[in-house]
Parts: sequence; structure tokens; C-alpha cells
Amino acid sequence: MIGNGNVALDVARMLSKHADDLLVSEIPDNVYRALKESPVTDVHVFGRRGPAQVKFTPLELRELSHSKDVDIILYAEDFEFDAESDRQIQSNNQTKTMVGTLTNWIAEQPEDLSELTASRRLHLHFLHSPVEIYGDNTGEAGDPGRVAGIKFERTELDGTGNARGTGEFVDYPVQAVYRAIGYFGSSLPEVEFDHSKGVVPNDGGRVLDASGTHVPGIYATGWIKRGPVGLIGHTKGDALETVTYLLEDRDNLPLAAAPAPETIVELLENRGVQYTSWEGWLALDAHERSLGEKASADAGAEGIQRERIKVVPREDMVEISRGGVAAEV
Ligand SMILES: NC(=O)c1ccc[n+]([C@@H]2O[C@H](COP(=O)([O-])OP(=O)(O)OC[C@H]3O[C@@H](n4cnc5c(N)ncnc54)[C@H](OP(=O)(O)O)[C@@H]3O)[C@@H](O)[C@H]2O)c1
Repeated sequence: MIGNGNVALDVARMLSKHADDLLVSEIPDNVYRALKESPVTDVHVFGRRGPAQVKFTPLELRELSHSKDVDIILYAEDFEFDAESDRQIQSNNQTKTMVGTLTNWIAEQPEDLSELTASRRLHLHFLHSPVEIYGDNTGEAGDPGRVAGIKFERTELDGTGNARGTGEFVDYPVQAVYRAIGYFGSSLPEVEFDHSKGVVPNDGGRVLDASGTHVPGIYATGWIKRGPVGLIGHTKGDALETVTYLLEDRDNLPLAAAPAPETIVELLENRGVQYTSWEGWLALDAHERSLGEKASADAGAEGIQRERIKVVPREDMVEISRGGVAAEV
């Protein structure tokens, strides 16, 4: 796993956890089955800077240690703190908490790693910058085949909060590489785009044209509105702000220009869009919960109790939400 943000931690946690420990969540059955087959024993997460420069957040980091039968492994040589790191630790409570968690973990770790007993390991590496991914050369006609290894350049902190290469290279034999190095928005035709920030220019979600005037009827929310940052709570608050402006703008339209709510449904039907309604969503929710109840009853009181079984194919979700026959899951 390349990257030291929350996406990297989420993916690393999912890859290293035992599938049965995910059944208490709403994991879809197809995902559960794939993870159940997983032969994974070791997951490595690589950050290119030091422990004080990670982008993840304290709660998500601590969550890693809650996985059953998974040992977290850290490496003393990755724990470099320069004067700038000390300043970051002192000036930011989140950084202080995370560095505290990581240093506690490494202090508690046995010196002889063979004393660790879990069947899976999650390794957190710092000061590693990716250079090259190797294939096993089993592919045909120049295809490098399956992933067989990855090369990193060791880095060191440069005193500004960044890291520079040391000229020392290390190879790790790995069978898969996942990238979690952040996102950059994509532009849409006929809508202004800020190419340096990767966002659609907007004022609280009201999309602006090149002169900074709101383009009627166009709104933005989420990462295209403010960039790829923030936890789920921020994203919800952000959507609330945009929708509040949208409703305010609708209320301020002259009566003749204000579309009636039914026109949205008409538009979707005319375009053949498979939409659902709030009542439809409630019907799907009830259906998924009833499948969960049935699975729990089948498993018996001692078995794993499932709150719901998710319906995965989109067409089945639409059909059930529209009162159709429950599809086989
Ligand atoms: N639980 C949650 O609520 C949750 C879950 C997932 C995501 N999120 C949020 O979603 C947003 C995006 O998360 P994210 O993890 O995708 O991005 P992120 O927080 O921006 O982290 C990206 C990571 O990738 C590294 N990186 C970037 N380019 C690289 C390169 N060329 N080589 C090696 N490493 C590189 C960065 O290192 P540098 O710092 O050195 O650039 C950083 O460690 C964040 O605000 C995050 O908190 C929240």
C-alpha cells in the first residue's frame, strides 16, 4: 500500500482483517467471499515522509490495532524526527497523538519479531519513496506479467517538513500494489475548472463562471467543491450547505420560472433513468434487514448475527425499491 493517508489505512485494514471479523459490518456478500479466499499474510504500508508527517488521523490509526489476529509491526530505523517534526508535534494535537500512538506501539513491540503470534501482520514503514514496480516476466509480448516486487528509495527529512532521497534503495517482494496517494478532480465540459486546485470554482456550492457569477442551476458539493480533504462528517456538512443554497435559489425564482417537484420525475422518466424515491429506499432498507434477520436465524443464537445483507447489483436494488420481487442474493 503506497501512501500515508486515511484511504491507505482503510484499505490496509480491510486487506489484513480476517473476513469473518467483518461480518458484524454491512460488508456485501460478494466482498466477504472474495476476502474469505484471500491468502494474504503480510500487508505493508509505505509513507515517503516520517511519522510526524503522516496524513491519516488518530481515530483511523487506533482502529488498526483493533483487528483480531493481526500484529502491527514498526521499524525503529523509520522513526526519524528533526527540529521541524518536533515543531509539528508541539503545534498540532493530532500529530502529537499519532506520534504518541506509533511510538507506544514500537516500544511495546518485542525485539525478536518471531515472538509475535498473529497469523497476519500489518507493517507500517516510513521514509520510503516508491521508484519501480517489478513484474514476474510471465506475460507475453513485453507484458511484465504479475507484480513480483517493488523498489523504494530510502528518504530522510530535509528540515522543512519534506523528505529527500538518500541514494539507498531497497526491494520488497510483493504480489500486489495498491496506490492511495490522494485524488485530483476532473473537469466537466462547459463548466469552469480550477486546474491548480482540481475543483470547480464555487461560492458555498453555487458554481461560478469565469467572471465569478453564479451559473443558474449548477451546484457543486464534495471533493469537486473543496478538494479531496475531510472526513465523512465534513462532506455531509458540505452537502447540506450546497442544498440549502439550492433550495434558497429555487424559492427566490419568479413563480412562473420555478419548476414543480414532479417535473424532476417526469424528466427522469423521459430519459429512461432508473431512479428510486425515498419510499423506495425505505423498501430496499427493509428488504436488506429482513435478509439479515433470516441469515441470523439460520446461523442460530451462537452464530454471527447480521444486521442486514446488502443487495449489490444496481438493477436488483432498483427493482426491489420499486416493489419488485426480491432477487436472489
Ligand atoms: N475515515 C474517514 O473518514 C476517511 C477515510 C478515507 C479518506 N478520508 C479523507 O479523504 C481525504 C483523501 O484521503 P487520501 O488518503 O486519499 O489522501 P491524503 O490524505 O492526501 O494522503 C495521500 C498520501 O499519499 C502520499 N503521496 C502522494 N503522492 C505520493 C507519491 N508520488 N509517492 C508516494 N506517496 C505519495 C502523501 O504523502 P505526502 O504527505 O508526502 O504528500 C500522503 O501520505 C483525506 O482528507 C482523508 O482524511 C477520510
